[in-house]
Amino acid sequence: MKIFIDTANIEKIKEINDWGILDGVTTNPSLIAKEGKDLKTIVTEISKIVDGPISAEVMSMDAEGMVKEGRELAKIHPNINIKLPMCVETLKATKVLSSEGIKVNVTLIFSSQQALLAAKAGAAFVSPFLGRLDDIGTDGIQLIAEIMTIFNNYGFNTQVIAASIRGPMHVSAVAQIGCDIATIPYDVLKKMIEHPKTSEGIAKFIADYEKSQKN
Ligand code: E4P
Repeated sequence: MKIFIDTANIEKIKEINDWGILDGVTTNPSLIAKEGKDLKTIVTEISKIVDGPISAEVMSMDAEGMVKEGRELAKIHPNINIKLPMCVETLKATKVLSSEGIKVNVTLIFSSQQALLAAKAGAAFVSPFLGRLDDIGTDGIQLIAEIMTIFNNYGFNTQVIAASIRGPMHVSAVAQIGCDIATIPYDVLKKMIEHPKTSEGIAKFIADYEKSQKN
């Protein structure tokens, strides 16, 4: 499973990229807003750090505007993907952009039917939001499994990005069902490394070794 980071914060992206496990980055307008810089500046900076897909979301809500904004953003770097929110205009814009070789990530996916339509329009990625479904008492993991089954049944090349991940258990669950990509917040990535028995084990190895050297 590929691991993306779900943030627009340059320092956090640099830190996780240094781990050597990062395959890409997703941003969204709320994440960009937190950074106090404009979208183009941020994705340009990210493209200099991470060698993998970087999702940049457009703000137009009509197909023509989405295509125009998408083409502009795609000029920044070949790794830039255009993130479009699921709606009829997005299907139209996805068709155009993907026919020009510009990869589209259809976001705000909350049903397998939406994912099917996005894939048929030529989306390179779909982003089902599992945490936001869990929030309203619906099974987000089940949605990822449904989409994976549908895409496998028909051989779609569209990759599934498990989005809106809230904790390490979400990551394990989507990995077990063979999801292509998980886009993971910084705090969750940090938690994935930790285990109290690992810390305890390291401390004991160091203490035992140091004691032996004093004898
Ligand atoms: C997806 O690409 C989105 O940026 C993101 O995962 C949304 O997650 P949230 O529900 O934590 O805002």
